[in-house]
Amino acid sequence: MKKIVVSGIRPTGNLHLGNYFGALRNFIKMQEEYNCYFFIADYHSLTTHPHPEHLRQNVKQILATYIACGMDPEKVAIYAQSDLPETVELYLFLNMNAYLGELERCTSFKDKARQNPDNVNAGLLTYPTLMAADILIHKADFVPVGKDQEQHLEMTRVFAQRFNSLYGVEYFGFPQAFNFGENLVKIPGLDGSGKMGKSESGNNAIFLTDEDAVIRKKIMRATTDSGPVEMNQEKPEVIANLFQLVKVLCGEEVYKVYDEAYNNCTIRYGDLKKQLAEDTIKFVAPFRQRIAEILADDAYLEKVRREGAEKARQSAAKTVAEVRRIIGF
Ligand code: TYM
Repeated sequence: MKKIVVSGIRPTGNLHLGNYFGALRNFIKMQEEYNCYFFIADYHSLTTHPHPEHLRQNVKQILATYIACGMDPEKVAIYAQSDLPETVELYLFLNMNAYLGELERCTSFKDKARQNPDNVNAGLLTYPTLMAADILIHKADFVPVGKDQEQHLEMTRVFAQRFNSLYGVEYFGFPQAFNFGENLVKIPGLDGSGKMGKSESGNNAIFLTDEDAVIRKKIMRATTDSGPVEMNQEKPEVIANLFQLVKVLCGEEVYKVYDEAYNNCTIRYGDLKKQLAEDTIKFVAPFRQRIAEILADDAYLEKVRREGAEKARQSAAKTVAEVRRIIGF
């Protein structure tokens, strides 16, 4: 039996290189040897109350991006989370034994509550139980995600174990976060402050839809310092972050050249940024073109989504029926 893989991305705008290297790249590789369910987490995106038209557009955008990056609808079930209402029923069951304390302690909840103190809603609090429902609905073995989702995966295992012990069954397994051959990935942003993500200005992230000139501009403006002053000194975080982007986008060889230049204090950040910009453009441009082509074909996108949802519902309906029986309905 093939192992089962589940993962999703929220439709809150275009996907960036963090999404790609943390998640999508793994999705594409995993489709060859696993039984995969890849969805668009549109229920989750409701915590920020998107306008219906934006929601529709963003779901389409992610769908097109999945396919543009090489996801094969013949091999994978591609669907929107909201096409699978069974998930909501499992979410309700899991919420019955998820505790306020553990939900409040979740790092992503604390961050979001701090950033938006006027919108600390119950959906935000129970974000991890909905995510656990997404994963457990297909009884997943592996969940390809970036480093920032590690805690959610731990919580998923806690909820699975709690369900099992409450009902004296060994029904749910314990899904593991997954990255091909290495540790989970965290792609840094361009402003030197932690991970690549959607900041207000959008200048912290390179999107798979960015035009060449935009990429060049963002990278040339990336935060640096005034340069090394001692041979072989440790790199401060902003510089280490930039170097990590070089490693991912330009490769080990190029990384070594600039690392040596840093260590002997001859580095010119302008040169490093130019190289990073050109290699990033080479990487992004084909995706940008493919996304635009696929987005133009509404009928095809609809068909992929409908067929993916049909596949996913077979597995989801089975799980929910079994869970209902275990619970005593
Ligand atoms: P989301 O939409 O924030 O991010 C989607 C995926 O991209 C990864 N990611 C990164 N990886 C490395 N470096 C970065 N800078 C970076 N930024 C984002 C995330 O780790 C994630 O894998 N809760 C999820 C969506 C979700 C889900 C699920 C995932 C809902 N249900 C079930 C897996 C299984 C989220 O908000 O991801």
